[in-house]
Amino acid sequence: MPSERVEVTEAMELTADLAIGVFDSGVGGLTVLDELLAQLPAEDFLYFGDTAWFPYGEKTDAQLRERTGEIAGWLLDQGVKLIVVACNTATAAAAGHLQRILDVPVIGVMTPEAHAAVLTTRNRRVGLLATEATVRSGSYERMIRAHDAGVEVTSVPCPRLAPAIQAGEAFDDGIVEMVREYCAPLRDAQVDTVILGCTHYPMIERLLRRQLPGVTLISSGEELAREVGESLRRRGMLRPAGREGDYRFACSGDPGAFRELGSRFLQMPLGAVERVLAGAPEPA
Ligand code: DGL
Repeated sequence: MPSERVEVTEAMELTADLAIGVFDSGVGGLTVLDELLAQLPAEDFLYFGDTAWFPYGEKTDAQLRERTGEIAGWLLDQGVKLIVVACNTATAAAAGHLQRILDVPVIGVMTPEAHAAVLTTRNRRVGLLATEATVRSGSYERMIRAHDAGVEVTSVPCPRLAPAIQAGEAFDDGIVEMVREYCAPLRDAQVDTVILGCTHYPMIERLLRRQLPGVTLISSGEELAREVGESLRRRGMLRPAGREGDYRFACSGDPGAFRELGSRFLQMPLGAVERVLAGAPEPA
């Protein structure tokens, strides 16, 4: 992992015609990519799913900083003009670190949801569903309180949820029970707004809605895609409209499993998925 600032501008000038790099521990970041593809159709995208290292929710901050540094290095080698950390766990642990060491803009997923939740709640009770690492980091609470110190936040770690979604498990009674259990503390706290603080969770939004009737669910894709577009426009790096952008996928684990699950969720063909280790094959 680079321990000092990585000078990308020397090796390659950042221009509009480069792709946007997006990564997550698995298929969850596709919920973010989906919005990026819709809002920025002229852009090219390179998506990396770190499936050999999944789940990030059980890793330490130090492991995640090192790993995401390796992934960012690979994305930069491929030629990207901006990196989207499409994973809440990686954003909480490492986005600040990546912003410090890289010369390309790095945009993470937490700030837009925290802001949207504060703007949305009427009773100033906000719930959070996220991985253990994200809840432990306290990042959402800090961001919410920076906007409104009077908002009460109820955070629920959901260690089994992202792994069930990533494994492509059927929507059976088991997953319904799991969702019911994780939503119970939020119902007890009478929150009126819930942040889906893991990019995997919008994939089961219907199940969550049923357990949280009348509650507004906030996820990252839409706001984040707007921020990416604005960031590129202000820097003069936005592709002009009128072309159809390209996309390609890579993952560190089984490309066949990624392609199958990914095309099911994204509802579009993924094409050939390349297997890329981007450093260590799996955590030590
Ligand atoms: N998609 C990742 C996130 O947003 C979580 C899954 C994991 O534990 O790797 O936090």
